[in-house]
Amino acid sequence: MSVTVRVPAKVNVQLAVGAARPDGFHDLANVFLAVGLYDEVTVTTADELTVTCEGPDADQVPLDRTNLAARAALALAGRRGIEPAVHIHIAKDIPVAGGMAGGSADGAGALLACNELWRAGASRAELLAICADLGSDVPFSLVGGAALGTGRGERLTALDVGSTFHWVFAMAGRGLSTPAVFREFDRLAEGHDIPEPVASRDLLDALAKGDADALAAAVSNDLQPAALSLFPDLADTLDAGRAAGALTALVSGSGPTTAFLVRDTASAQKVSEALLASGTCRTVRTATAPAPGATVLPPFDTGAHADA
Ligand code: C5P
Repeated sequence: MSVTVRVPAKVNVQLAVGAARPDGFHDLANVFLAVGLYDEVTVTTADELTVTCEGPDADQVPLDRTNLAARAALALAGRRGIEPAVHIHIAKDIPVAGGMAGGSADGAGALLACNELWRAGASRAELLAICADLGSDVPFSLVGGAALGTGRGERLTALDVGSTFHWVFAMAGRGLSTPAVFREFDRLAEGHDIPEPVASRDLLDALAKGDADALAAAVSNDLQPAALSLFPDLADTLDAGRAAGALTALVSGSGPTTAFLVRDTASAQKVSEALLASGTCRTVRTATAPAPGATVLPPFDTGAHADA
């Protein structure tokens, strides 16, 4: 018995970061937008918990119990008092350590898949609670679409999106650690007053209207200076995309993936080619947004049908 779940990546169109809290996390106003780059997580009944991964970045994915997909299976099994006897296979298309919630996607995907496989009957609310325990971005990977995340990003309010947005993503030659980027944010913030993070009205209106120019004017990422401080070459990638006609360019989440909002598929093509030609990134992908959240895929059809 197998269940496969498809889960999207995300870009943060606004990431407002408050001062460090006593627990070390930061309060956020985090506007998530799910984008059409996906990991597929397949869980299969097995003798014990194992994880395998395929894809261009597969060698960077931990296959032990630190993997968020394994932790998700352990969390649900623990709540139901059952053995987490499952093989988890991750077909990985979302960049690893890229600021696009690839690990979170695998956590949400494995959780939904195990809930189906084990007929565990967890409600949406229980799944969201488990996701929030797994990591700040994991609840959004489950719900997809667009949402405002508050608290450490795990408390979600769904947002309206009026149209399809076109994006280009440039993957960097190495990853960035999210905790390291937040630590750099704290270091750069020393001696400054950090305002409470609030969602931008202009940005929410631009999303709701589906107005790409207004969205481009309103995007912001408070982690971008920290990511650029740790990875200064990203500035060249941002410049190359802007010069090729992107409406705006920003670091995705904690980076180092850079995100370029473009007007249409023709512009996406032009910006992609320019980014590749610039030699400032490892690879380039295009995707549209919003994308649906974690979705159980229909069982694989082998094409072999029994005669009637
Ligand atoms: O929640 P998650 O495990 O994904 O967070 C990874 C790390 O990112 C945390 O350990 C923390 O260093 C940082 N973080 C933060 N504030 C948030 C979310 C994450 O400082 N709101």
